[in-house]
Amino acid sequence: MSHYPKRDELARVLESVYERTKVYLEELDERPVLSPDLQESLDHFEGQPLPEAGQGALEAVQELWDYGQGAIAHTSGPRCFHFVIGGSTPASLGADWFTSVMDQIAYAWISSPLSVRLEVISLNWLKELFGLDASMSGITTTGATMANFVGLASARQWWAEQHKVDVAQEGFANLPPTPVFSSGYVHAAAVKCLGMLGIGRQSVKRFAADSTGRVDLGALEQELRKLDGQPGLLLANAGEVNAGDFDPIEAMADLAEKYNLWLHVDGAFGLFAALSPRTAHLTKGIERAHSITVDGHKWLNVPYDSGFSFVRDGALMGKTFAYEADYLADPHEVRVNFGALGPESSRRARSFSTWATLRAYGRQGYRELIEHHLDLAVYLGKRVDEVAHLERLAEVQLNIVCLRFNPGNMSEQELNNLNERLGEKLLEDGRVLCGTTKYKGMTALRPAISNWRTEERDIDFFVDVVQELAGSLG
Ligand SMILES: Cc1ncc(COP(=O)(O)O)c(C=O)c1O
Repeated sequence: MSHYPKRDELARVLESVYERTKVYLEELDERPVLSPDLQESLDHFEGQPLPEAGQGALEAVQELWDYGQGAIAHTSGPRCFHFVIGGSTPASLGADWFTSVMDQIAYAWISSPLSVRLEVISLNWLKELFGLDASMSGITTTGATMANFVGLASARQWWAEQHKVDVAQEGFANLPPTPVFSSGYVHAAAVKCLGMLGIGRQSVKRFAADSTGRVDLGALEQELRKLDGQPGLLLANAGEVNAGDFDPIEAMADLAEKYNLWLHVDGAFGLFAALSPRTAHLTKGIERAHSITVDGHKWLNVPYDSGFSFVRDGALMGKTFAYEADYLADPHEVRVNFGALGPESSRRARSFSTWATLRAYGRQGYRELIEHHLDLAVYLGKRVDEVAHLERLAEVQLNIVCLRFNPGNMSEQELNNLNERLGEKLLEDGRVLCGTTKYKGMTALRPAISNWRTEERDIDFFVDVVQELAGSLG
């Protein structure tokens, strides 16, 4: 008997997956985000030797599900408030399953005509949704980190061309250090990209007016004058992770114009503020950026992993990510060859999920979703204000509420220790998931609301759990 894959396994595997996942998705609303028997489930996989003769497809897939479920973080459920995490809308999840079954290589037209067509369409729809110029080029990436990478790589190419160097071809040898400026809101992902691009993590100069990181425009401009006309990069942040604040993008666009800077906007989740008249003012000026980042797996609520980069001058993407060999797709192909516009060559057809969710819910559906989350954040802010010993630390502008437990009569150091312990307790408890951060030097919780499943009752549940665990700290 042979041990390699058999055709007749397929139907049984798919039926088993469907039965199990259907129940899982029905129960997801009520599940603790982290299971109490997590360690037990993990232990099942510990020390397994490479099988000599495998156990068969059905058994392997069922083992993964039956034991693995207890050891995953149920982050696609409504009570996960950690980081900024979306769930998968029904349309995007269905399309994602098809993506695996169709197993397309979204590298070029010749490898998947449909994925190229749907990537072009969904990127155009997203530009419309956010009010970006239709002429911008774009690409789907694995997330905001790689979208920042595409934007900043294009910025690097532009900056070097200003010095008459093609950096993708020649490297940095004949170039000065790259000047990079931002506020204190610059995200770790952008800093990581500066490292990956050889620009250097330390290159970024942050101009913050206070310990929240809010930009000091005066100090920034003073520094920009010293450039004396030399080109540089300016990183603006549309949505900061502690309290959902924004850089003044319009004012930064003015500075970029005046001082010959490439303006890059990281709007991983904050760009969605453009969808509601209640928050659109926060994103004013994004249409003037040279490159823009937005995530798919956050507020668009498509499955991991998915993000988008938009670049005004798409030729820079082509020069940076050129991918040519005799056996590969024709580089002069008129239909877009996405494998030569971004860092990945072979790529998953992520656009299927994006296309499906936008097709299913449209502009109106997404506006309603964003406004629902804005309402929930306001509601959570109110609950925090009302509940004894909870202290809200920032205005609620978007979908994040920054708070701490403060029973009174404690020094700042004691409060920080107390809230660190509360953060640990929340993770141990697992009924809701929420991380801690530092805000103005204070240890704080920063629940972010971005899952389509989340409702008012989940917010109440979160407050109850926080109160209960805070009360048990002694
Ligand atoms: C503003 C911002 N930029 C970039 C990232 C990185 O995104 P990803 O994890 O999708 O790469 C995040 C993630 O939280 C973010 O909030």
